[in-house]
Amino acid sequence: MLTGFIGDIHGNIDALEAALETLRAHRVERIICTGDIVGYGACPRECIDLVHQLGIPSVLGNHDHYTTQIGGDWAIRPAAKHAIRWTQAHLERDYVDWLATLPLTLDFGSFTVRHASHVWFPEWPYVIHRREVIQHLLFQPRRLCFNGHCHAPVRISHRAGKPISVDSLGNLLLPRNQRLTIGVGSVGQPRDGDWRAAVVIFDESREFIRLLRVPYPVEKARQRILDAHFPSELADRLLVGH
Ligand SMILES: [Fe+2]
Repeated sequence: MLTGFIGDIHGNIDALEAALETLRAHRVERIICTGDIVGYGACPRECIDLVHQLGIPSVLGNHDHYTTQIGGDWAIRPAAKHAIRWTQAHLERDYVDWLATLPLTLDFGSFTVRHASHVWFPEWPYVIHRREVIQHLLFQPRRLCFNGHCHAPVRISHRAGKPISVDSLGNLLLPRNQRLTIGVGSVGQPRDGDWRAAVVIFDESREFIRLLRVPYPVEKARQRILDAHFPSELADRLLVGH
């Protein structure tokens, strides 16, 4: 089974279309989303439509969750808050209701999918620091988990009796006797210094994970954000992948 992973789309339809086209070209048999379909970007409705129409299963991301909290307030940066409030104002009720149906966890038997940590809700810590990584791995029910949230492709691995390691993700043959969490990076707002959309392909029969970076019309996505009168930092960061 070839599975494609997308996540942290963040209302960036230009990046999402390019990512899906690449996954189709690689003949993946299914696509799974690690959450944050909306927030930051100017096309939340278009992104929800595409994920929904293609029947792509998705977990709940923190921005998806915030969007369902009409009148809510959150400990996030002002620009992110501005985008959430704009998204709430521009999505019809049935889109918001659909976001509210997204599960926190998807379990596919051999692996789980979660937006951030397997432990924390409604907090959304980044699973890259020691304390959060240890707690996440303790509660990770399968050997393998795919997550998002960090907006950078990350590999967390742990072998009994050895220190936990957190590294950038590259192509990877799954090591035996290790518990792994694979951060699939971000389609719509990468933060690892590479502006291209990140997608991951998991070949389950060969136990091989492949990271792909997909160029997309980033200037178009940037202009959409400026046209929606978001803080310009949300537009400009797309160009540098940060
Ligand atoms: Fe995100």
